[in-house]
Amino acid sequence: MASQYLKSTPLLFLLLSLSSTAAGIGVNWGTAASHPLAPQKVVELLKANNIDKVKLFDADPLVLQSLSGSNIHVAVGIPNSMLRSLNSSLKAADSWVHDNLTRFVSGGASSRVLIEYVAVGDEPFLQNYGEQFHPFVVGAAANIQTSLLKANLAQRVKVVIPSSFDAFQSESLLPSKAQFRSDINKTMIELLKFLNRHQSPFFVTISPFQIYHENKNISLDFALFREKAHPRNDTHKTYKNIFDMSYDTITSALSSAGFPQVDVVIGRIGWPTDGAANATSSLAQEFTKGLIDHLHSKKTAKSSKPSEIYIFSLLDEDNRSIANGNFERHWGLFTFDGQAKYQVDISQGSRKLVNAQDVQYLSSKWCVVNNIKDLSNVTAVALQACAAADCTSVSPGGSCFNLSWPGNISYVFNNYYQQHDQNAESCDFAGLGLITTIDPSVDACRFVVGLRTSFSISVHKSEVFYWMISPLVTVFLCLLSERW
Ligand SMILES: *[C@@H]1O[C@H](CO)[C@@H](O)[C@H](O)[C@H]1NC(C)=O
Ligand SMILES: *[C@@H]1O[C@H](CO)[C@@H](O)[C@H](O)[C@H]1NC(C)=O
Ligand SMILES: *[C@@H]1O[C@H](CO)[C@@H](O)[C@H](O)[C@H]1NC(C)=O
Ligand SMILES: *[C@@H]1O[C@H](CO)[C@@H](O)[C@H](O)[C@H]1NC(C)=O
Ligand SMILES: *[C@@H]1O[C@H](CO)[C@@H](O)[C@H](O)[C@H]1NC(C)=O
Ligand SMILES: *[C@@H]1O[C@H](CO)[C@@H](O)[C@H](O)[C@H]1NC(C)=O
Ligand SMILES: *[C@@H]1O[C@H](CO)[C@@H](O)[C@H](O)[C@H]1NC(C)=O
Ligand SMILES: *[C@@H]1O[C@H](CO)[C@@H](O)[C@H](O)[C@H]1NC(C)=O
Ligand SMILES: *[C@@H]1O[C@H](CO)[C@@H](O)[C@H](O)[C@H]1NC(C)=O
Ligand SMILES: *[C@@H]1O[C@H](CO)[C@@H](O)[C@H](O)[C@H]1NC(C)=O
Repeated sequence: MASQYLKSTPLLFLLLSLSSTAAGIGVNWGTAASHPLAPQKVVELLKANNIDKVKLFDADPLVLQSLSGSNIHVAVGIPNSMLRSLNSSLKAADSWVHDNLTRFVSGGASSRVLIEYVAVGDEPFLQNYGEQFHPFVVGAAANIQTSLLKANLAQRVKVVIPSSFDAFQSESLLPSKAQFRSDINKTMIELLKFLNRHQSPFFVTISPFQIYHENKNISLDFALFREKAHPRNDTHKTYKNIFDMSYDTITSALSSAGFPQVDVVIGRIGWPTDGAANATSSLAQEFTKGLIDHLHSKKTAKSSKPSEIYIFSLLDEDNRSIANGNFERHWGLFTFDGQAKYQVDISQGSRKLVNAQDVQYLSSKWCVVNNIKDLSNVTAVALQACAAADCTSVSPGGSCFNLSWPGNISYVFNNYYQQHDQNAESCDFAGLGLITTIDPSVDACRFVVGLRTSFSISVHKSEVFYWMISPLVTVFLCLLSERW
């Protein structure tokens, strides 16, 4: 197949696409979704789009199995909740490495997973978390490093600690004055010593969308790499976009901490498409295109280019925490079911992004408000459903915010119904719901049909099991009650 591809592809195009992968663009693949797209489909999606770097948030064996034998480079993750035990117990680190790395990394080219990084914790210094993880981070990283060495994997796999952008403080966002936040300064220096000793890169998030939202002084032009953006001056430098300013904030803080030589990887960067003002597909496209062009541009100084970046994110995840905002569930380049939201050249060259193929959906059925009923209590019913359903698209700035009442209630009903695998009872809503086969979607507001997942199949299996054994249980209980 590869030779066919070579024959039919002009040499120039090949050269262009090779040079565009050189910058090292990967994606984050999170699985905080109620019905995640099957791992095998996701890997096909990555391959079809020539994406050869992926960052995970855990070490799910099904996900790792689906990546085996592929040429995709992988960063696996260890959740913050494991930091405490990994700090205090080398044994825990040994078994983590044994269970989650050794068996995947070893083996021949047809079965091994190309794991390059272990991310110990996920943004453990985020200010919202307080200090709960601070005392364990460096110890946990050191134990994982020791375990890697024992397992003879330290040459292949690097230990990294993804940091949030709020790890830095600076006056008026000016890079020249940037330092690490004073409450983590000491820990950060320990961490940098560790990274430096093992020649591991510093993984860090850049958050242009949040910076734009939180700073009245920053314009959309400045966030989106627009030519007409009003430049901002620091002591010796003029900045034309948030990215360069953020990147220099990082390198300047590293320098002032005494580690200018540590390599920087942007572990998370992106623009959401729903759930907030200015979170739209067209602005996300402009941002992502602007970012990639900027990184490929000869005009961009080498000192302002990270060695790798990981776009956040590959897919939307309807179960991500919305503590920071409703946009948190809409970071995907692709929708939850693997359909491209906009076109951009990640690494596939001049071809369009390829969507996920043969996606298994539930039936073409939706749940809406039954208009002939007395709807005086329906808003309260919907609000309750929002505790479980994903209502972020009907929130202000969302793609379904413009639906007039009770259309927005139908949106909520449908979301709840799909999340519950189109279970008939989940469209009851005190008699106010109605199942329909007519797609209620309006313009950009999409009423989804859920994915058929192995998770829901296993629920059905256990239901079947329950129905099989429950008559036996009933008979048994009857026998018991007869005896007494
Ligand atoms: C959604 O997230 C919550 C909190 O993190 C978790 O308890 C729950 O199991 C998740 N649900 C699904 C279906 O993944
Ligand atoms: C981290 O682990 C080390 C080594 O076991 C231990 O001495 C230290 O107390 C631990 N830190 C915390 C905060 O528990
Ligand atoms: C391996 O990783 C999985 C998923 O992150 C985790 O649940 C499990 O506890 C890990 N194994 C060990 C021995 O820590
Ligand atoms: C906003 O910009 C003005 C002028 O550039 C500056 O004087 C002011 O300090 C800035 N405010 C913040 C909060 O950055
Ligand atoms: C952080 O520590 C370094 C080295 O000890 C010191 O030079 C710097 O002033 C400290 N920064 C802050 C914000 O505390
Ligand atoms: C978002 O976009 C609108 C215009 O579409 C603008 O009025 C608003 O101020 C923007 N910024 C934020 C932070 O909401
Ligand atoms: C920023 O610096 C440039 C040249 O370095 C200068 O022309 C411009 O006036 C400065 N702008 C401000 C707002 O200070
Ligand atoms: C609406 O809720 C109120 C209070 O719970 C209840 O008294 C009323 O009967 C409900 N109306 C309908 C139409 O269900
Ligand atoms: C919602 O309606 C307003 C006013 O009619 C319009 O400006 C805006 O673009 C609409 N938003 C969406 C997401 O359709
Ligand atoms: C639906 O729209 C109505 C009227 O605009 C509003 O009062 C209600 O809160 C919305 N409900 C939801 C769940 O968004």
